[in-house]
Amino acid sequence: MSSHSRRELRAGMVGMGMIFDETYRPFFEQTRQEGLYSRDFGDLDVPLVAVASKTGKRAESYRESAGNRTYPFQSFSGDDAVRQMLRENLSFACVATPDDRHFEACRDILDAGIHLLVEKPSVLSLCELDQLVELAQEKQVLARVVYHKLLDPDHKKLRTLVCDGVLKHVNNGYCSLLEPKSISGGQFAEWIQGRNPGTYVAVHYIKLIDFTFGGRLKTIMCSGQRGLVGPKDGNTWDSTQLRLIYEYESGREAAFDIHTSWVTPDNFPGYVEQEVQFRFDNGIWNGHSRKRGVECTVEGLTPHKMKITMNNHYNGSFVEPWGSRVQRGYGVEVIDRFAREVAFVEHGGPATERELRLASVRQLNYADLSADRQVVAAVQAMEMILSQHAAGYPDCVVRYDGQSLKLLRP
Ligand SMILES: NC(=O)c1ccc[n+]([C@@H]2O[C@H](COP(=O)([O-])OP(=O)(O)OC[C@H]3O[C@@H](n4cnc5c(N)ncnc54)[C@H](O)[C@@H]3O)[C@@H](O)[C@H]2O)c1
Repeated sequence: MSSHSRRELRAGMVGMGMIFDETYRPFFEQTRQEGLYSRDFGDLDVPLVAVASKTGKRAESYRESAGNRTYPFQSFSGDDAVRQMLRENLSFACVATPDDRHFEACRDILDAGIHLLVEKPSVLSLCELDQLVELAQEKQVLARVVYHKLLDPDHKKLRTLVCDGVLKHVNNGYCSLLEPKSISGGQFAEWIQGRNPGTYVAVHYIKLIDFTFGGRLKTIMCSGQRGLVGPKDGNTWDSTQLRLIYEYESGREAAFDIHTSWVTPDNFPGYVEQEVQFRFDNGIWNGHSRKRGVECTVEGLTPHKMKITMNNHYNGSFVEPWGSRVQRGYGVEVIDRFAREVAFVEHGGPATERELRLASVRQLNYADLSADRQVVAAVQAMEMILSQHAAGYPDCVVRYDGQSLKLLRP
């Protein structure tokens, strides 16, 4: 573990794409202005000192546009970028590359004894997950994953009602998340070959279900459609329908369907349409992210440049009543929370008690990699089923016994 004489957390960033711009950038810019403060750890700076990306182009255009909103940072690109970034005496590093490129960067960061925050889905296989968890344990650092939907106030309320026993035993439910064609055809075109929208977005709901209702994941099924993003018999998927079956301590079961797509027309009103319904023994929960708030139409701007139904809870830019401008929401809050967890471990008391502080943060399993096993199992199983389908064996089922996955052909 690196030690620093100044009261600061030196941050590194791998990947400078869409999610960097939406959530990490506002966090780092705000913290540059205001610092990070708590009674536990005092007043800290959190400079973004180094970034690693594929070509370095977006890092340069960010440097230019941000001016002094950002600290001066080193930018590394190419195959060795992450390793070069790790020589910058970092306290923590965040990984926001395409999901099939998370593992190597995460492994190198942990191996260097640096706290890690990785975007969802953490990794794509149980074997990779187990290696990272072991490495974090050995190096005595945090390994955390971002599932910002757990911080959505609506999902917090759902979980509160479940924790308090107001909603009793979930029996089944559905979730859907639909993205526009511009995501698959433009923004993600570089890495979309061989990929599916389930891994990318169903994972939000896999985590929501896993974290909110607990239980033991037993069975995974999945179907999917092709023909728009790639050939009709290829391995790139337009849409997927995932089904998960859980068993609870009572011996009762629940089933959840999660539908995702990234080929919805670009002008559909939702832009990103997110809906859930959970049915309990004594109740029903309906959530619709698009219908919970505002609809706004502006000639020439909506729906392409500006969204008709905006999610002002996730990430909104506002003029505060007192005049200043701010970008805030649960997408930024989750990054801030991680920085506070690192700050607590490193600066929240005497060095002799660091181990205790580390253990207490690790127990917060909403984000710990060690608590992500069922989610990764579901993602890996979904990818196994889709790849069997592409190879000519549709409708496979995967069973999970808590340790490993077993694929059954019909
Ligand atoms: N939490 C969320 O809701 C949310 C939303 C969007 C994306 N994400 C996640 O964030 C991650 C990135 O998504 P995005 O939308 O920002 O993607 P993007 O395609 O916009 O950006 C990817 C970035 O990674 C960089 N990159 C690619 N390969 C690299 C490598 N080998 N080494 C270093 N850098 C590399 C690219 O240069 C680019 O800067 C994905 O894991 C995705 O699932 C999360």
